[in-house]
This record gives sequence, structure tokens and C-alpha cells, in this order.
Amino acid sequence: TSSPNFYELVGGEPTFRKLVDEFYAGVADDPILRPLYPEEDLGPANERFRLFLIQYWGGPTTYSDTRGHPRLRMRHAPFVIGPVERDAWLRQMRRAVDAIALQPEAEAVLWEYLERAAHFMVNAPESG
Ligand code: HEM
Repeated sequence: TSSPNFYELVGGEPTFRKLVDEFYAGVADDPILRPLYPEEDLGPANERFRLFLIQYWGGPTTYSDTRGHPRLRMRHAPFVIGPVERDAWLRQMRRAVDAIALQPEAEAVLWEYLERAAHFMVNAPESG
């Protein structure tokens, strides 16, 4: 038997479902982030993000089976993401990560990834 991957270690699908549900509950009320989301229903965006994170951390590859290669920078190109949007995203994500209450070591690994990924997604300078 092999050692569990990160996805299994943190509790599998229910953990990522809770993380992403918490994140989108925050987005729904966020005056900076909400206007960026093109669809009125955040459900499909929630599912795409959940499936992506599950795949990234070693769970089922449903994301790429349905969406293809992630190409996240390219997929974010239609949205203006400057430092303000990045920081709003990280604020909502911090709340969501706190809500799932992982072991400190696992939480640090997850948070470092999310912070790095959020900085990588910036595609616009500081506005106004
Ligand atoms: C999609 C905003 C960072 C992963 C989206 C969408 C928006 C958005 C508006 C479109 C919603 C949809 O219809 O799917 C932002 C902003 C960010 C950010 C403002 C701030 C930095 C990130 C990061 C990740 C990520 C760091 C990964 C760790 C995704 C994924 C999708 C998505 C997987 C769906 C892609 C697809 O299959 O179409 N994001 N995002 N985003 N975002 Fe972000």
C-alpha cells in the first residue's frame, strides 16, 4: 500500500467541497469579486474550481476529462485581475481555508499553493 496523497490526507472530496462552498459563499457577497463572475449562477463556477482543486491535489481527473488542460492564465485572461482583485480573492480564500480547519502542516501546504497561484493569475497593474 502506498502513502495517501494530499487529496486523501485532508479528507477527499467533502473537504474540497466545503472549501469551495465557503469560498463562493464569500464571493457572492464580495463587492470586488462578484462583478467579475460572468454568470448569475455561481454553481457552475463552484463546480469547475472544486474539480480543478481535486485533480490538482491527486483526486479524480474529472476536471481535465471535461474541461481539457487547465491553462489557468489563459482562462483568466478575460477578467481584469490586478492586485486589488488578487487580494480580495485571497481574503475570501483565507476565510474558506480557516473554515475547513486542517492540520497545521496540511493547511500551510495548501495556503502556500493558493497564495502563489493567486499571484501568478494577476494580469493587470494596479487600477485607479
Ligand atoms: C475561473 C476569477 C484566481 C482557478 C474563474 C472565473 C473568474 C475567476 C471570474 C470565471 C468563473 C467561471 O465561470 O468558471 C479569479 C480571480 C482570481 C482567481 C479574481 C484572483 C487571483 C484563481 C486561482 C485559481 C483559480 C489562484 C487556482 C488555484 C480557477 C478555475 C476556474 C476559474 C479552475 C475555472 C476554469 C475553467 O475551467 O473554465 N476565476 N480567479 N482562480 N478559476 Fe479563478
